[in-house]
Amino acid sequence: MSSEEPVPPRTVVCIPTYDEIDSLPGLLDRLRAAQPDVDVLVVDDDSPDGTGRYADERAAADPRVHVLHRTSKDGLGAAYLAAFRWALARDYDVVCEMDADGSHAPEQLHRLLAAVAAGADLVIGSRWVNGGEVTDWPVQRRLLSRGGNLYTRLALGTHLRDATAGYRAFTAHALRTIPLDDVASAGYCFQVDLAWRAVRAGLTVVEVPITFAERAEGVSKMSGDIVREALWRVTVWGAEHRAGQLRRLGARARTHDGRDGS
Ligand code: GDD
Ligand code: MN
Repeated sequence: MSSEEPVPPRTVVCIPTYDEIDSLPGLLDRLRAAQPDVDVLVVDDDSPDGTGRYADERAAADPRVHVLHRTSKDGLGAAYLAAFRWALARDYDVVCEMDADGSHAPEQLHRLLAAVAAGADLVIGSRWVNGGEVTDWPVQRRLLSRGGNLYTRLALGTHLRDATAGYRAFTAHALRTIPLDDVASAGYCFQVDLAWRAVRAGLTVVEVPITFAERAEGVSKMSGDIVREALWRVTVWGAEHRAGQLRRLGARARTHDGRDGS
């Protein structure tokens, strides 16, 4: 490579796993084939089914595969925060999120990376923009996702169509700009939390269409607790946001009054 050629960004895809032994092998094969120059970090919460041991075997055979072992099932948010710290400490330029169950096609990762190359700080692989789709989802999951996103859009006043999506690419700059230390979201509302923080930090957040396929193996870890946490946190963030808007409006009105009175 001549010195004038741009250095390609160093990219890592973080894959959180809990009991994904039936899905992870095929997903890693697909990801390594689709993006051979991209590194992979499996973040396993001591899966009882041996997913972590399997990931270790892959890492031993492939220098691009890495594993972060955590001691117990501690939620998606905590797993990703640990992964982001791992990636930032190793100076990756682009840090991606991908589910282990094959719902996020590695063959579409180039769409997210292209949007990063075009200048986005955070790219969300979206099911609910033009060109995006979900295949094989039962109607109740479709409703949960559509309803959750609608509620999020209304509560927070964002333009994002798929704020809960878990297929993402962040620049290192974005992860260093977003305050990560006080993220408390444990479950899947972690995704909304980070998107919302990115928007408020003034970062460029872009959605690109993806095809989300229902998992073929294993079971979803979605639960009532995860839905409840998302609902109350989004409601609190929305109320804080509106209160902040009102405070700013009030302050502006007072400034005007002051001027009028002088
Ligand atoms: N390490 C770790 N710890 N991984 C976890 C945990 C955890 O506590 N909980 C879930 N995961 C992993 C799963 O093993 C999987 O790889 C990924 O997170 C997504 O979990 P699923 O259980 O397959 O999620 P889903 O398909 O029902 O969820 C949908 O909503 C999520 C939240 O927005 C999808 O749209 C996901 O893309 C999205 O992240
Ligand atoms: Mn899934």
